[in-house]
Amino acid sequence: MKISFTEPELPRAGAAAAGIWEERVMTLAARRLDEATDGAITRALAGAARFSGKKGQLLPIVAPAKLPLSRIVLAGLGKPDKATSRVFEEVGGVLAAHLDGAGESEATIAVDIGSGVPIGLDEAAAAMALGAQLRAYRFDRYKTRQKPEQKPVLAQLTIATDRADAAHSVYSRLEKAVEAIEFTRDLVSEPGNVIYPETLAEQALTLREFGVEVEVLDETAMRGLGMGALLGVAQGSARAPRLVVMQWHGTGRSTAPAAPLAFIGKGVTFDTGGISIKPAAGMGEMKWDMAGSAVVIGLMRLLAARHATVDAVGVVGLVENMPSGTAQRPGDIVTSMSGQTIEVLNTDAEGRLVLADAMWYCQERFKPQVMIDLATLTGGIIVALGHHNAGLFANDDELAARLIEAGKAVGEEVWRLPLAEAYDRDIDSNAADVRNIGSGRAASSIVAAQFLQRFVDKVAWAHLDIAGMAWSSKDAPTVPKGATAFGVRLLDHFVSKYYETGRSAPRAGNPGIA
Ligand code: BES
Ligand code: MN
Ligand code: ZN
Repeated sequence: MKISFTEPELPRAGAAAAGIWEERVMTLAARRLDEATDGAITRALAGAARFSGKKGQLLPIVAPAKLPLSRIVLAGLGKPDKATSRVFEEVGGVLAAHLDGAGESEATIAVDIGSGVPIGLDEAAAAMALGAQLRAYRFDRYKTRQKPEQKPVLAQLTIATDRADAAHSVYSRLEKAVEAIEFTRDLVSEPGNVIYPETLAEQALTLREFGVEVEVLDETAMRGLGMGALLGVAQGSARAPRLVVMQWHGTGRSTAPAAPLAFIGKGVTFDTGGISIKPAAGMGEMKWDMAGSAVVIGLMRLLAARHATVDAVGVVGLVENMPSGTAQRPGDIVTSMSGQTIEVLNTDAEGRLVLADAMWYCQERFKPQVMIDLATLTGGIIVALGHHNAGLFANDDELAARLIEAGKAVGEEVWRLPLAEAYDRDIDSNAADVRNIGSGRAASSIVAAQFLQRFVDKVAWAHLDIAGMAWSSKDAPTVPKGATAFGVRLLDHFVSKYYETGRSAPRAGNPGIA
């Protein structure tokens, strides 16, 4: 879908959309349409008992014959004082889906804000476009027999607004987020026969185009580093594992890098469960067990593409968890890079084994100021939070608060669960330093987080269990069903709000840069 911006004028073709505030208050754009249609909007609003202008409500109207338009759609914006960027994104998404579903190939959405709205006009107009573009995503690469009515039709979306140029320049920054999110969603959507450790590593290598430093460690390198936990998971698969290290140097210092922000991703390209094999029903979903890694790769791409003024490192552990004659057995004891031995009592609790070595490597090499891991780690988090919040675990209250706030701002919400000594006791092993599952089914997401915490070495750390959020079976305003890329926007906002200074900022101890 192509997006453009223009000064407000009555569109000459296609569909026209305009906003209505709650309690049926017309925006300026709606009033203009009302005049051009001799009061059609006023009459439609008076006759529509169920449309009050609440956020996301739509009221389609047949365009009067005297106008060259195919239809007019009124879109509820909610209350002006609640109209954040997120509201405009959602309305943009809902409108794009509606217009495409109605078979419109061309549409113009008029955006104005009036007074009392907490954001500026440029941001509102750009957010409308962002929401529409995020919702228009499709993964249909493998659909070779689509009928015309199954294909997307909305090809041209115009945002009509005062200060169209300024809105367009805001949007061109947001467009980098769209591209990174689409890239992430593609990676998550691809099946396990296409995306496996080697090919996912190849995808990460494309970040070099954006100025990211990318290294790929193979099995031999990992063995040399003592990554027995990650390698134990990988040993049942014919596909060799990879560890990808991505660095973005955005503070403008070429030497003496100070503590970076670190993002770690679980990249299990397919999770059969291994010898502790999963039931057949629904196992195909486990192609997206690498979503944590895809989000880290997508985030690193976005930080680089928009020249974020931070130093960030992404580390993703890529393995396939398969049962075979070479697979790890329940009861095996492996030695992690940290030196801690792990009794693997369930080979399906594999993500934590991969993360244990990826996190340790990252801490040892980069000494990050903050470390955040993302993982489709437990089915238990879906039982606890469903598909509306990711699970958040953190050893640092300020870090947790920042992630919660960032999630609210972009509509990717996280809910904090506890970590505590009492849960930690549940993973003490009789035979090794730690075991990879608790004693029963209770608090499985917390127990998994406690396991990860055993591999956290005095750094501010947060763990996001995204098992319920990585994939969606229902359309949402800005996220069509399928791969969501949950976490890319959350962490991008988190970085820009709390760690960027707005320009290249050298830190103390680096005399080389003025
Ligand atoms: N990848 C799964 C978690 C998962 C389940 C993600 C459903 C998305 C949807 C993970 O590797 C796993 O199998 N976890 C087990 C752990 C258990 C064996 C302790 C789980 O949560 O059941
Ligand atoms: Mn598993
Ligand atoms: Zn898994």
